[in-house]
Amino acid sequence: MKSLEKRRKDYYYQRAKSEGYRSRASFKLLEIQERYHVIRRGDVVVDLGAAPGGWLQVIHHLEASAIAVDLQQIAPLEGVTPIRGDLTSPEIVNKIQEIVDAVDVVISDAAPNLSGAWSLDHARSINLSACALEIAKYVLKPGGNFVVKVFQGDLFDTFTRDVSAYFRFVKAFNPRASRKQSAETYIIAKRYVRADRLTKLSG
Ligand SMILES: C[S@@+](CC[C@H](N)C(=O)[O-])C[C@H]1O[C@@H](n2cnc3c(N)ncnc32)[C@H](O)[C@@H]1O
Repeated sequence: MKSLEKRRKDYYYQRAKSEGYRSRASFKLLEIQERYHVIRRGDVVVDLGAAPGGWLQVIHHLEASAIAVDLQQIAPLEGVTPIRGDLTSPEIVNKIQEIVDAVDVVISDAAPNLSGAWSLDHARSINLSACALEIAKYVLKPGGNFVVKVFQGDLFDTFTRDVSAYFRFVKAFNPRASRKQSAETYIIAKRYVRADRLTKLSG
């Protein structure tokens, strides 16, 4: 008999297939949206770590447009402007601002390639999450929203506090669609309050 986890994986995998989503990750954003209403119709969304594009399809269904950043190429999708590049690179903010002046929502599902060495993977994940926060601080309109994946670990609380300095509402959320053994959590941050400017992106 299959393990519960395997059945759950099959469930979201099969649902993604039958509903035409590019990845099972779509269901995580759908849960976040259902609960926290982070994206509104007509919004401009920056999606960091966007490939293969499951979240982009959800954004499209919500009648919002997106700028999609990833190291990988993303197959074309209506309403999406892709930027192939490294989100930890300082040029990313300029590239986004060549396309739009300011955005309503920044979301990041970016994840490092896992080495299996727990503290290294955690540190790499926190670095991606911190770069996503820096990008959000730079491009978000006042009142904008931010969603970021973070791996649990000893740097989690400090990072959550960093996010809290810039948003009126901050909450950690674990979607049902995340794999049970996964250490990932999503920080939901709403209503950006400080228009700080980026000083540096760590690479
Ligand atoms: C879990 S996948 C994202 C899935 C996506 N949300 C979806 O719905 O299809 C994580 C992505 O992060 C990207 N990524 C990892 N490090 C990155 C970096 N430094 N810059 C840009 N993208 C990165 C990976 O290439 C990968 O496509």
